Amino acid sequence: MVCPNGYILAVEGLAKICIPDPNLYRREDGLYEPSWAPVFYNPRMVENRDICVAVLRVELGRGRCTAVVDPLAATGVRGIRIVLEAGLPKGATVYMGDISPDAIEIMKRNIELNGVVEGVCVRHADANELMHQLAKREGVAISYIDIDPFGSPAPFTHTALDCVKRYGVVALTATDLAVLEGRYRDKLLRRYGVVGTRVLQSRDIALRVLLSFVMRIAAVYDKYIEPLLSYAMNHYARVYVRVSRGGTRAGEVLDSCLGAVRCCSRCGYYYMHRIEDTVDRAARCPVCEGKLEPIYPVWICPTSSSEYLAELVEIAKGMHWLRESSRLLLGGIYRTSMQNALTARLTYIAKAIKTDTPPVQSIIDCLIQKGFTAARSYTYSDGVVTSAPIDDVVECVRSRALGRSMDRS
Ligand SMILES: C[S@@+](CC[C@H](N)C(=O)[O-])C[C@H]1O[C@@H](n2cnc3c(N)ncnc32)[C@H](O)[C@@H]1O
Ligand SMILES: [Zn+2]
Repeated sequence: MVCPNGYILAVEGLAKICIPDPNLYRREDGLYEPSWAPVFYNPRMVENRDICVAVLRVELGRGRCTAVVDPLAATGVRGIRIVLEAGLPKGATVYMGDISPDAIEIMKRNIELNGVVEGVCVRHADANELMHQLAKREGVAISYIDIDPFGSPAPFTHTALDCVKRYGVVALTATDLAVLEGRYRDKLLRRYGVVGTRVLQSRDIALRVLLSFVMRIAAVYDKYIEPLLSYAMNHYARVYVRVSRGGTRAGEVLDSCLGAVRCCSRCGYYYMHRIEDTVDRAARCPVCEGKLEPIYPVWICPTSSSEYLAELVEIAKGMHWLRESSRLLLGGIYRTSMQNALTARLTYIAKAIKTDTPPVQSIIDCLIQKGFTAARSYTYSDGVVTSAPIDDVVECVRSRALGRSMDRS
């Protein structure tokens, strides 16, 4: 038997992986519950791992990858895929760790199964301990760290930022998306040091909260970040940041990229500003007179690099084994990365001005005609991400609704 009792063989990317038999861990409603299994494997995270492998290909293309650390590796699927699919150069190593003995056992089995024993090193250790041991005691220059925990990445963020080498990349998954979105105010403040609440574009805000947290921790180590790619999908947020050294620059990045966002919870009107800017706290929404909810401190610079994404989209085209959904997701993030904006939710804008919701494409066309950039949101089905100010979006919504009602009459 290829896999031990209770496990089945699955194929993901170019890897064959023994995973817990999902039939043994089904909830009453029939859904597979990965956290009930002795070792964690979530098939809903394939896009997350597809994109991770593509990012490593980009990094390798730039000659920037010698040691990769996957310290919360579970079945080892991510690290194994990196060895098989990213094309690591000779001498490069993927270090994989996990605190669970069951995970270590199945990880070793999976490594043998894929014939990648040479390229990897497995350690049974706490994630923070492993990163620290490698970087500080063994002198490993870590080019890439992938933090993919249960829930929040907060307990591992300090060590990852401290231990990654200059110009290295840290990727973080946060499955506590509801907290980042502001659904639990107390937890948002406790865990991420951010004051805020849930608003209409809270998936966009979640990324800005996470980046603000990461940036502030990087600054503690006289380091600064450059977000390469950030997105929210299903139940999680994911960010990839390049980490560089320099206290002065870290101060400059804090100065220009740490700020606040004020959002109308009725129509989604918003504006972002730097912390030190004076604002009229009593001001109401200019579109609907709604209350403006402040959320701070958040990252107010771009959350992804369109240049990096363009490269990533090209690289992914050549990786035929990636899921179509991963490619579509990358395309969506790329389109919306052109503007440093939150999503305009047409349903709510239309409601605020008491008209029908127009088709998304008609508003995109209208905004482009006006000379702005505009793209369909990959997150919200009624969303447009645009460089246009709210007045122009409102005008387009109004004119398209008028046009449609005239067509009907
Ligand atoms: C969400 S799973 C990782 C999934 C994996 N990265 C993947 O792509 O399939 C989180 C893993 O972290 C491990 N873990 C939890 N706390 C840990 C810690 N302090 N140090 C190391 N591993 C830990 C768990 O045993 C679990 O296997
Ligand atoms: Zn409003």
